[in-house]
Amino acid sequence: MKRRDLLKLSAAGLLAVPGMALADRIAELPRLRLELRREQRHWFAPSGDPVALWGANRDLLRLHQHQPIEIEVINLLPEPTTLHWHGMRVDNAMDGVSGLTQAPIPPGERFLYRLTPQDAGTFWAHAHHRTYEQLAHGLYLPLIVEEAEPYAADREQLLVLDDWRLGRDGQLDTGSLGNLHEWAHGGRMGNILTVNRQHRPRLGARAGERVRLRLLNAANARIMVLQLPEWPIWILAKDGQPLATPREHKGPLVLSPAERYDLVLDIPEDAEGGHSLYHLAHDRPLETALLQVSGSAGTAARPAPAPLPANPLASLPARAPDHHLQLDMTGGAMGSLRQAVYRGQMLGIDALVQQRQIWAFNGVAGLPEQPLLRARPGELVEIELHNDTRWPHGMHLHGHHFLAESGLYPSGLWHDTLLMARGDRVPIRFVAGNEGRWLLHCHMIEHQVSGMVSWIDIR
Ligand code: C2O
Ligand code: CU
Repeated sequence: MKRRDLLKLSAAGLLAVPGMALADRIAELPRLRLELRREQRHWFAPSGDPVALWGANRDLLRLHQHQPIEIEVINLLPEPTTLHWHGMRVDNAMDGVSGLTQAPIPPGERFLYRLTPQDAGTFWAHAHHRTYEQLAHGLYLPLIVEEAEPYAADREQLLVLDDWRLGRDGQLDTGSLGNLHEWAHGGRMGNILTVNRQHRPRLGARAGERVRLRLLNAANARIMVLQLPEWPIWILAKDGQPLATPREHKGPLVLSPAERYDLVLDIPEDAEGGHSLYHLAHDRPLETALLQVSGSAGTAARPAPAPLPANPLASLPARAPDHHLQLDMTGGAMGSLRQAVYRGQMLGIDALVQQRQIWAFNGVAGLPEQPLLRARPGELVEIELHNDTRWPHGMHLHGHHFLAESGLYPSGLWHDTLLMARGDRVPIRFVAGNEGRWLLHCHMIEHQVSGMVSWIDIR
């Protein structure tokens, strides 16, 4: 529609936009330019040498709840890519899934993503084309959607956890990408851990401060088991969705790839000194960062933290679900997968392995032509996830948050990504949201590319 036509409509009173013509509003949408490129900056240097990664012309996206924005993504990388806004409820055409919601952006070209953040919280944007390779190159950004009123804390600290595989030359080991043996096991594991792309960074804080921590696990496949100092800690939000009442937390915090937590951490008055944050690897604790606490901020004892304001997420209706289905996750090393449908054909295990397919959802490997489920907006859906493999998986549903009955989590948390132990049987429930094609996959991203992916169709 031309501006002239819009003006005519609004003059006729058909577009009632108080104070401003619609055409002007469209013209004034804030636009942000995001260049995806090889990073020349020196991000972390375990051996003293800078490591070349893929990234963007900024380290972090900060958006505002309910404020529309256009993000112009310019692909300066040597291969096609897309960006997916993990955990955000967006229009399906903006979801950034290569081959499902859009064609990948060729090198040298651009794509305009139009978003209106519905929910405040901690999210991330990451490549969703050859994801196993592009994530390993670091092609992602943490994304914070600010609450309308800033949350009362003395300090905010973002911790983006990742692991990287470096070769002997201290650079990313890209030669080992696509290793089928790893795909059939726990996925690609790095040999160096970073926080905010730094190896064992020092973070500053003051004794007596209340810190809001935002945690994101951006690793391809590693489950992070984060041990924070034993101070009072509350969970404010999981995967960007606030808890009605912050919940006190003790012990390590487990994050599957792509999971996020917002925490409140109260640093005691007598905490001056250095405190390590650890990842509890199966054989030993590894220091990921050092929190250097300086002299007291001089604060009095604090009450328990207030909750974050609720997001406009529909609660689940108390009725029987409109759809119920079971999703059997099978395959992988030590699994019993003998055959599966791949691209419409039934293949035996040898042929599957030749196609680099090792895992299956309900007997189908890879993205199927037909959706797992068709539903209408507003319908209540229950999917019973059954991890019939010998491996843990972090299951992610695009464009939605769901409730789950899982022993691994306190009840009442909303998730967009859910860690499942082997053998787990976990019903998840959600209200079908925006129309479109929404992916459901394992976020141990090597498992996705080797079979664990499907989609639901909402219309
Ligand atoms: Cu984090 Cu399919 O995405
Ligand atoms: Cu998996």
